[in-house]
Amino acid sequence: MKTKSMSKIICLALATIVDVPVLLFARTGADDKSAATYKAKCASCHGADGKGDTPAGKSTKTRSFADPEVVKASDDDFAGIIEKGKGKMPGYSKSMKPDAIKDMVAYIRSLAK
Ligand code: HEC
Repeated sequence: MKTKSMSKIICLALATIVDVPVLLFARTGADDKSAATYKAKCASCHGADGKGDTPAGKSTKTRSFADPEVVKASDDDFAGIIEKGKGKMPGYSKSMKPDAIKDMVAYIRSLAK
């Protein structure tokens, strides 16, 4: 009985030690992926820093992600716009999975800071 509960504790401790780096790694991986996708698909209009300060951004009137009006929009609004597009912006539902869009929304929020 005693040994059993001991090994249970050791198991739990091991699981915690193993899980934390895995979770951290998964998060960083998602951010790296979003950053690469952003650079490839979005930065031409939105700019590397998200301010929309590029020739294509100016001609399509792309706003900064830090614009108060844009900051007010919800994550769902953002995800919907990335999926379906809006105005001069194309939609990305064909090339981005819902999970990738969710990670991208978080990445864009980080650019707005
Ligand atoms: C051809 C230029 C262009 C590209 C490429 C582009 N966007 Fe946009 N994006 C726009 C424009 C223009 C708007 C504003 C649309 C409107 O309100 O009419 C916009 C709006 C947005 C919004 C809503 C915030 C706002 O300003 O209203 C998000 C979020 C967004 N884009 C994310 C992305 C992401 C993520 C990508 C890449 C996967 C991307 N965009 C690629 C031009 C672009």
